[in-house]
Amino acid sequence: MIVATSPSASEPLALVELPPRPLGPLDVRVRVHSVGVNPVDWKMREGGPLRLAHFFVGPRGPLVVGVDFAGEISERGASVCDLAVGAAVVGGTDFSRKQLGSYATEVVVRADQCAALPSSVGFEQAACLPVPGATAHRALVEVGRLRERPDARVLVLGASGGVGLVTIQLARALGAESWGVCSARNVALVERLGARPIDYTEGDPLAEAARVGGFDVIVNAVGTATYDAARVRALLRPEGVHVLVVVHPTDYPAIGLSSRTVAVLGKPRRANLAPLVALVAEGELESLVEEVFPLADAEAAHARSRGGKVVGKLLLDPHAKARSTQAHST
Ligand SMILES: NC(=O)c1ccc[n+]([C@@H]2O[C@H](COP(=O)([O-])OP(=O)(O)OC[C@H]3O[C@@H](n4cnc5c(N)ncnc54)[C@H](OP(=O)(O)O)[C@@H]3O)[C@@H](O)[C@H]2O)c1
Repeated sequence: MIVATSPSASEPLALVELPPRPLGPLDVRVRVHSVGVNPVDWKMREGGPLRLAHFFVGPRGPLVVGVDFAGEISERGASVCDLAVGAAVVGGTDFSRKQLGSYATEVVVRADQCAALPSSVGFEQAACLPVPGATAHRALVEVGRLRERPDARVLVLGASGGVGLVTIQLARALGAESWGVCSARNVALVERLGARPIDYTEGDPLAEAARVGGFDVIVNAVGTATYDAARVRALLRPEGVHVLVVVHPTDYPAIGLSSRTVAVLGKPRRANLAPLVALVAEGELESLVEEVFPLADAEAAHARSRGGKVVGKLLLDPHAKARSTQAHST
């Protein structure tokens, strides 16, 4: 199998061939058709707390990048009976289970990290879901308890990114009224997907949100350097919660002092992916793909993601030829 590794923060991603990974009784082997790119993929290359955690609890050897994938099961462990060989699935890898990343032609993960795809949901649509979807589900359903709050009001800071677009659509599907902070170019998109846009290029978006009134859940997918935590909390209703998706180490003292700011980590599992796949199949959740890169051009996808202006998702195709190779062959 071919995987993309990050030898060090200063070196480019390298494609290397590895022998197939052994399959445990609870595992499935998936031939990967599409890979979702997340900011965490390039952040891990640069160091930080997750890279440190990978060093201590992850698999040995160079970092194989990536989490999100969609593909087809090619082999299953002896104890797996709920997913058949040939089934189309979406899922996420987990280094804390000693698994390699998803920038690969195949992955081996536990079956509970995969949700089955109906024929109406394609691999590219599905590969947009895992990390953004698990994060949105954790923010709105597990922490925000939107299922128990019928008339909830939700504010999403960073509504047009990978996380934001799933969050505003999930909020709509859960019956909440939502507002999404984005730039002028994304106002129409955010509105079409069910949130009332607040254009941050037109003034102070938190002041604008304050005019709207109190919120039950505020999902911050931009960070406290841009949207100050105390100012955000001032927008909450009495039982409201500020869900911090982008967590900087300097945020932890403030998080510790306030039970109203909760940091979340979106881990793709069947339990959080299956409801999202159902929403895609029902036409309630749209996946927006900005561009698909061959796996060999993952470095270009990371450069795009680092720019911070991606709308929707960047994907990788592990079986497509590198663009530079194609250019030479024509
Ligand atoms: N905790 C977790 O488990 C978890 C999971 C996923 C992601 N994350 C983190 O969450 C962040 C967002 O991830 P993502 O995948 O959504 O990133 P992304 O797809 O790269 O999102 C970029 C978006 O941010 C918007 N944006 C930039 N500056 C903004 C501002 N000042 N106000 C509002 N929107 C702004 C941009 O839209 P405009 O053109 O409108 O500016 C763009 O659409 C990243 O830092 C990522 O590492 C954490």
